[in-house]
This record gives sequence, structure tokens and C-alpha cells, in this order.
Amino acid sequence: MGKTFQIAVIPGDGTGPEVVAEGLKVLKAVEKKGEGVFTFIPFDLGGKRYLKTGDILPDAELAELKKMDAIYLGAIGHPEVKPGILEKGLLLKLRFDLDQYINLRPVILYPGVETPLKNKRPEDIDFIVIRENTEGLYAGAGGFLKKGTADEVAVQESVNTRKGVERCIRYAFELCQKRNRKRKLTLCGKTNVLTFASDLWDRVFHEVAKEYPQVTIDYAHVDAVCMWMVKNPEWFDVIVTDNLFGDIITDLGAMIQGGMGIAAGGNINPQGVSMFEPIGGSAPKYTGKNIINPLAAIGAAQMMLVHLGLEQAALQVEKAIRAVVKNDIKDLTAGKMGYTTQEVGDLVVSYL
Ligand code: IPM
Ligand code: MN
Repeated sequence: MGKTFQIAVIPGDGTGPEVVAEGLKVLKAVEKKGEGVFTFIPFDLGGKRYLKTGDILPDAELAELKKMDAIYLGAIGHPEVKPGILEKGLLLKLRFDLDQYINLRPVILYPGVETPLKNKRPEDIDFIVIRENTEGLYAGAGGFLKKGTADEVAVQESVNTRKGVERCIRYAFELCQKRNRKRKLTLCGKTNVLTFASDLWDRVFHEVAKEYPQVTIDYAHVDAVCMWMVKNPEWFDVIVTDNLFGDIITDLGAMIQGGMGIAAGGNINPQGVSMFEPIGGSAPKYTGKNIINPLAAIGAAQMMLVHLGLEQAALQVEKAIRAVVKNDIKDLTAGKMGYTTQEVGDLVVSYL
């Protein structure tokens, strides 16, 4: 029997439960191969529970989550809950409290998947964005003055600590070296305007770079990164950036790799509990219709397998995803797949 893992499962809101069910289906199928054994522990967190009980993330449950080997998350965000409450109280709180300081977002165009970029092929779109995940404008620093009056002032500050920036950049250099492709690391910032925050990033980047002479370094402003992700995505190998820039450019990344239906991500604490999720949201308009694409959630499960050291299992799931998009599903958009959510899960399992 393989190693045993305790996996917390947070299906969450909207289409989260539907896609998580398919991810679990795949994990249970891959479990039969014997490399790892999973105990799945469900956590009822999200909009529904909040509306019913007012609970967002009770301390007792947070303490339980901290004991897990990993967390598998569907989506957070409910149309009847004011924006910010669940996002900050649950998703961001988990990222912060579990110190998941890396948000790892691969942007890979699998063969057979259509990209909106003209003349770009799978060999052109294959890079990873490393987004700092605990600081920046997400830190919640700031406040109002004279709220609701004509003299109102709103300040939202970007927090960038030496330690937070350095550990993120260091992780990026390590990953870039290990990945062993172009061995090129691009820092994405805005040094021409953010002369404090981006300056710190730039200085730390160049300092740490001295320890990685095999990695070629590059810098681009965030607006230029957006341009080049569309025009010349083949220039990128690994991109490292702050929390908000990373949030924005990875939605663009998701689109060029075929859409939210395929985009997966990991919230990583290399020394602690990490959490894996599809990067698209709760997609209320598709909820309950059995038409949402579960491949992003299955891809997140695959990233979790890599993280847990179950390399064979991870490879098999990746191959199965690649087979499904090459042979079966031409359009990855919800409702246009030609298959239901559950059928796509079955297709992945059929290739295992
Ligand atoms: C993401 C999401 C979250 C973020 C939201 C839901 C708070 O957009 O994971 O990219 O901004 O980080
Ligand atoms: Mn986002």
C-alpha cells in the first residue's frame, strides 16, 4: 500500500462542488494504482453556510485544516453575499493563515486546445507564473477617512516585506532552475512608477540572481508583460510578480491557454499545508447545470499529486488530461464541450 494522506476538501460555492466531485473521482481512480492512499475530509465552508449560520471560517475548523496534508478547494464566492466577505474571510484568510506564500499558476497550452492567439502553438505557450500570495495590496492595509462624506479618503497600501519578497523570488529561481527549460526568470513589476515597492523587488531580484548564475534574468513592466503574453508568449519561462499583478496576468494567462476551464493553481507553503484550486471563480451562471468544465479542478488535483510527491500518479493524470483535450473535447468552454461535467471526469478516468 502507498503512503497515506489526509486531504481536506472544500467544495465551496457555485460550480465548486461539481468540479471538485470530478477531481475526487480522478483521485480515487489514481489511488487504485497504489502509489498513495487518500482520506478525504469534507469541510462545509462557503456562501451557503455563511448565509445560514453566519460562520465563515471558525477557529476550530481552521485548526483542523492546519493538520491536513493538503487542501483541495473548489471555488469561493456567492452572488447573495457582498463581494469581499467570503473572499477575504475564507479564501484569503486560508492563504494568509496557512502562510501559503506562493501562488503557482502554470500557463500551458496543451496540444489540441484552441488559443485565441493567432499563429501560436503549444510550444509557444508554456510558462509558469509565480505570484506572491500573502502581501502586496492584498494585505488589507489602509482605511477610510470621513467615510461617506464629500471629503472621503480611501487609502489602500501595498505591503512588501523584505522577507516576503525574498522568499518568493528565491522560490522562483529554484523552480526556474529545476524546470530546466529556457532557465529564464522574468520579474514583472512597475519600477517606473512604484518606486518603493517595485524597487525593493528589483533589488532583491538582482541580489538573489547572483546565487543562480545558470538562470538568465529579465525584467518587464506589468503592462508590457500583458502585451507580450499576447504577442510573444514564447519569450516567457517563469515569471515572478507581486500579488495583484499576479492575479491580473494569470487571468490573461488562463485565456491564452484555452480558458478558465483548464487553468489550475496551487497556493503553496513549502514548509506547511498547501491548497490547490481551479483559478476560475464560482461561475454562478453555470451552477447546477452539469456543463462546467472540471479539467481545471482535475489539473489542480494533478498539481496536488506533484506536491505530495506522488510523481507517477501526477504524470498519469497529466497524460489523461492531455489525451482528453487532444482526442475528445475541442472547445473547453462551459456548455460547449459536447460532454457534461461528469462525462469529462469519466473521460479522464478512462485514460488512466
Ligand atoms: C484568484 C481570485 C481571488 C484573488 C479572489 C477570489 C479573492 O481572483 O484566486 O485569482 O484575487 O486572489
Ligand atoms: Mn484572480
